[in-house]
Amino acid sequence: MTDEMVRYYARRAQEYDRVYTMPRWQPDLAILHERIPALCAGRRVLEVACGTGYWTERVGRTAASVEACDTNDETLAIARARPGMSARVRLVRRDAYASSAEPPGCDAGLAALWLSHVDRARMAEFLDAFHSYLLPGSPVLMFDERETPVRPVPASRVDEAGNRYEMRRLADGERFEIIKNFFDEGEMRGLLARYGRNVKFEALEAFWVVTYTTSGGSVRQSDGEG
Ligand SMILES: C[S@@+](CC[C@H](N)C(=O)[O-])C[C@H]1O[C@@H](n2cnc3c(N)ncnc32)[C@H](O)[C@@H]1O
Repeated sequence: MTDEMVRYYARRAQEYDRVYTMPRWQPDLAILHERIPALCAGRRVLEVACGTGYWTERVGRTAASVEACDTNDETLAIARARPGMSARVRLVRRDAYASSAEPPGCDAGLAALWLSHVDRARMAEFLDAFHSYLLPGSPVLMFDERETPVRPVPASRVDEAGNRYEMRRLADGERFEIIKNFFDEGEMRGLLARYGRNVKFEALEAFWVVTYTTSGGSVRQSDGEG
């Protein structure tokens, strides 16, 4: 089912950025347009699931460097073609569940509109992988949609792992069923307890926003070597 989500975003790439014109997102976007580049200023940023590069372009204006990853060539191609994309940005095709093979080299982390699509059965795998790129003491910002009465999309089903699904339709009528989970403050604090300190959770109008400071780099289990 995760593959259907990957295919959906590949097929949606050309029309994806329309989402940023939605009126009900504008007040929250105005806040994040300030906060995200400020958090990343002067830092070596890891951005996971960067999509078409909407945030990558903005972060690239202030960061020392950005490693922005996505699994789809289709979204990465749009990000690459953005006229304002800084030369300090490296766009990489990579699975968000893949841990770093090298010691951590980034000192800030960003996950925009991504956590809602993480399979709950693989949440620890994603969080371990994400944090394996981040040095201790790195600021991290994650945000995603809240469940609000004005959000119009109903759940199509919930699976045994607790994943909530919804149906999405592209402009040409093609339909997909994708994971779209919501998180409240208690669950976020539980998920991040192993990875961060100074966890702050904010409920904006359309989005929740979490910021924290990494308490360690990779938290993968030891492989037994001395
Ligand atoms: C909702 S979009 C968010 C894009 C971008 N972060 C933004 O805020 O505009 C989700 C993105 O996740 C990417 N994606 C899906 N599965 C992935 C995976 N396993 N690893 C990395 N990226 C993935 C999709 O290609 C898509 O670009």
